[in-house]
Amino acid sequence: MISVEELLFFALSVFCLIQKIGCVSDTITVTQLIKDGETIISSGGSFEMGFFSPSNSKNRYVGIWYKNIPIQTVVWVANREVPLNNTAGVLQVIKPGHLVLRNDTNNIIWSSNSSWSVQNPVAQLLDSGNLVVKDANDHLGNFLWQSFNYPSDTFLPGMKLGWNFVTGLEVYLSSWKNYEDPAPGEYTYNYDPSGYPQKFVKSGSVIEFRTGPWNGIGFSGVPILRKNPIFSYRVVFNEMELYFTYELLGSVVTRFTLSQSGVGQRWMWDDQARSWKLYLSIPADRCDSYAICGAYGSCDIGNSAICGCLDKFEPKNPEEWAKGDSSNGCTRNVQLDCHSGDGFLKYSGYKLPDTRNSSFSKNISLEECETICLKNCTCTAYSSLDITNGGSGCLLWFGDLIDMKVMPEVGQDIYVRMPSSESGSLHGPDGKKGLILAIGLSLPLGMVLIGSLSLILYIWRRKNKLQKQKNSEMARDINDKKYTSERHKKDLELPLFDLSRIIKATNNFSSDNKLGEGGYGPVYKGVLEEGQEVAVKRLSETSRQGLDEFKNELICIAKLQHRNHVKLLGCCIEGMEKILIYEYMPNKSLDLFIFDPIRSKLLDWPRRFHIIQGIARGILYLHQDSRLRIIHRDLKASNVLLDVDMNPKISDFGTARSFGGNETGANTSRVVGTHGYLSPEYAVDGLFSVKSDVFSFGVVLLEIISGKRNRGFYHHDHHHNLLGHAWMLYKEERALEIVDCHLLGSPFSSLEVLRAIHVGLLCVQKCPDDRPSMSSVVFMLGNEGLLPEAKQPGFFTERYVLNSENSSNTNASSSSKGEITITLVEPR
Ligand SMILES: *[C@@H]1O[C@H](CO)[C@@H](O)[C@H](O)[C@H]1NC(C)=O
Ligand SMILES: *[C@@H]1O[C@H](CO)[C@@H](O)[C@H](O)[C@H]1NC(C)=O
Ligand SMILES: *[C@@H]1O[C@H](CO)[C@@H](O)[C@H](O)[C@H]1NC(C)=O
Ligand SMILES: *[C@@H]1O[C@H](CO)[C@@H](O)[C@H](O)[C@H]1NC(C)=O
Ligand SMILES: *[C@@H]1O[C@H](CO)[C@@H](O)[C@H](O)[C@H]1NC(C)=O
Ligand SMILES: *[C@@H]1O[C@H](CO)[C@@H](O)[C@H](O)[C@H]1NC(C)=O
Repeated sequence: MISVEELLFFALSVFCLIQKIGCVSDTITVTQLIKDGETIISSGGSFEMGFFSPSNSKNRYVGIWYKNIPIQTVVWVANREVPLNNTAGVLQVIKPGHLVLRNDTNNIIWSSNSSWSVQNPVAQLLDSGNLVVKDANDHLGNFLWQSFNYPSDTFLPGMKLGWNFVTGLEVYLSSWKNYEDPAPGEYTYNYDPSGYPQKFVKSGSVIEFRTGPWNGIGFSGVPILRKNPIFSYRVVFNEMELYFTYELLGSVVTRFTLSQSGVGQRWMWDDQARSWKLYLSIPADRCDSYAICGAYGSCDIGNSAICGCLDKFEPKNPEEWAKGDSSNGCTRNVQLDCHSGDGFLKYSGYKLPDTRNSSFSKNISLEECETICLKNCTCTAYSSLDITNGGSGCLLWFGDLIDMKVMPEVGQDIYVRMPSSESGSLHGPDGKKGLILAIGLSLPLGMVLIGSLSLILYIWRRKNKLQKQKNSEMARDINDKKYTSERHKKDLELPLFDLSRIIKATNNFSSDNKLGEGGYGPVYKGVLEEGQEVAVKRLSETSRQGLDEFKNELICIAKLQHRNHVKLLGCCIEGMEKILIYEYMPNKSLDLFIFDPIRSKLLDWPRRFHIIQGIARGILYLHQDSRLRIIHRDLKASNVLLDVDMNPKISDFGTARSFGGNETGANTSRVVGTHGYLSPEYAVDGLFSVKSDVFSFGVVLLEIISGKRNRGFYHHDHHHNLLGHAWMLYKEERALEIVDCHLLGSPFSSLEVLRAIHVGLLCVQKCPDDRPSMSSVVFMLGNEGLLPEAKQPGFFTERYVLNSENSSNTNASSSSKGEITITLVEPR
């Protein structure tokens, strides 16, 4: 039996429920109040506004947070500095157009303000997270007030960070005091319009970090903030306004916040892990501390002593400098007299110095820019204003150059004024060119080259066997001390092993210890006296090609520090012996697992996915994050080694190439690489770039999923290789059919597998421009969201034939495990 009371209660509940649903709106009108406990929700359901208490605080605040994210994440706070101390607060809209917050004595403790008035004001929470006050009938976006103009610590997509020069309004972020107190804390993040605009993180009025000026693509010092498949960034700068904004291109939930310790952080919501994942942080490293190396200093995070002077400059106070205090900066070797014949020296690969005292012009070419700078004695440097389309506009510096950072992959060119005596010597780069050819590298001029050379130099010097070196070419590199800089020598220590120690560790290179054949010589397993296992790579005495590759590998890998790269422990150069010592990888290489019917069972899907992600991160590091921009050129399953926990480590840098500045690729007449992994533009035209590595990665990815080799793939229905086969199935929405049958025994997430196959197919697209960059690949693998349609892969039928007559007259670098490394000379 149901009692009357129960029925009544039921009816009442239903009524309340209806009432409640009816009440959930995105708008507050003059007749409605929002009490503590009630909320409004934006029309698309993304954001919610109401009263909240931050972490352990009992204070009540009005704020906006994500509606659909289980961890309450507040993106805006109204009464930051005037908390309520009970739940009696009321939010309402009053005429002629204010949103006000009253406390229990009905006093207004917070209000939105506006100078104009409307008939029927309402407050509406938009789906962007913007709370606006407007006339109820306005649909044109004439807001009396909007919360996007008064952000707290969060920068949401669509917000405009910067200045309205007409009204004088500045929109900037300010950190919370602490987790319990959203009042403005120590730090701000703003867009400073002085000189040529830059964004700053400041503590009070002290600059902590500077993004550098906008260069048309991104901010000079924050290369990662540039357009990618997820974000589109934009700067608007004219007489009326200056702002930076971004839009989302992919479907991700993301926010940028200024932390309580002054770090700008971009977060992405990870729906699977149900947590926020950090995507980027600025400042990113110690070199981002403002002016850490003083005037004309240059900060290089790759060096153990991060501060150095620009070439042609020396420490102002060498004693302080030696003690590690570089803040006084550097001074010219030869002072400017500004009389006649001054010139400019080009420095490449830098974060541009502080532009608060700069002037600029969009219309002036770089040549005119030089002329203008030359005419004014106080002008110390110039550069392009906008680097898109090869560069345009003119940016001039007056006074000292402050806060420069070495950014080999993504830095910019700047031309620094030099007295005639110094600049004269600079326009003869022929010597440098010869040097580059001599060492067979296409490194850019500048720090990177110098650093790498001095590494070799240092090793040789320390062994003091310079005079005994018979190899004339190498001796030439080493003797050419002109281009090495003193400070680098200390920084680049690589442990040297005595030959006797290596001989003992490997049983005198006993064939029992031989692990295999590397790019240019045999690899042995060794056990050092303290019990550590190592892999020892010995350059064959006869290999002329090998010497270049040995040097190349030494240069490349000594600089790499990433968990997805094999670690170089040291080297040994004695007499004719040239040996590299690596950490030992007990599980050998990936191909021994994925292509083996028994061992492939050891790799379930989570392990394979972990390996795929690790390889992707390792390549991303090469392309983007390491000091040298490196293109590996020979990525393949057998060059991925596995440590004891099956973590992947990329190896074999014998054929890698380094780049700097904005270079992303080159052209070669000597194609090195392996059949089945080569992208079409590289195999056919000798064009290699980061995108040829992306292609090889895509092949490895599909091999890992399918357990089949791309080259030599056979299917009875068609003549396609693995790429073609995967693409066909993908077009027919049957992509799961390529999955290795050994995976089918254990559970796996088919969504994850499908996504990985899709990413793999994006990587092997025929046209290099269509292929994603490795940063997108890493992101796409780790996050959900729509992926672009994959176009036809390159080389999807196996029938491409390389000209084998040509390759016979050059040294084939290796032939191991039935894979052929081809070397091809293209007729020019
Ligand atoms: C809240 O603040 C008012 C005024 O400062 C004070 O009189 C009152 O006691 C406080 N209430 C509580 C619960 O702390
Ligand atoms: C309400 O706000 C007024 C004005 O700020 C203040 O004087 C008063 O103490 C507040 N009352 C409470 C209970 O907090
Ligand atoms: C809005 O409030 C701020 C801070 O109280 C004040 O500086 C500004 O002048 C006000 N603007 C208008 C239009 O009243
Ligand atoms: C800009 O010029 C002023 C005046 O000469 C100087 O004090 C200041 O240090 C300069 N700032 C920068 C960043 O060069
Ligand atoms: C730049 O050049 C364009 C076309 O030559 C001209 O219309 C414009 O006024 C110039 N702007 C400035 C700032 O000189
Ligand atoms: C040189 O440039 C500075 C800064 O723009 C300016 O103040 C000064 O008048 C210029 N001097 C000459 C001779 O043009």
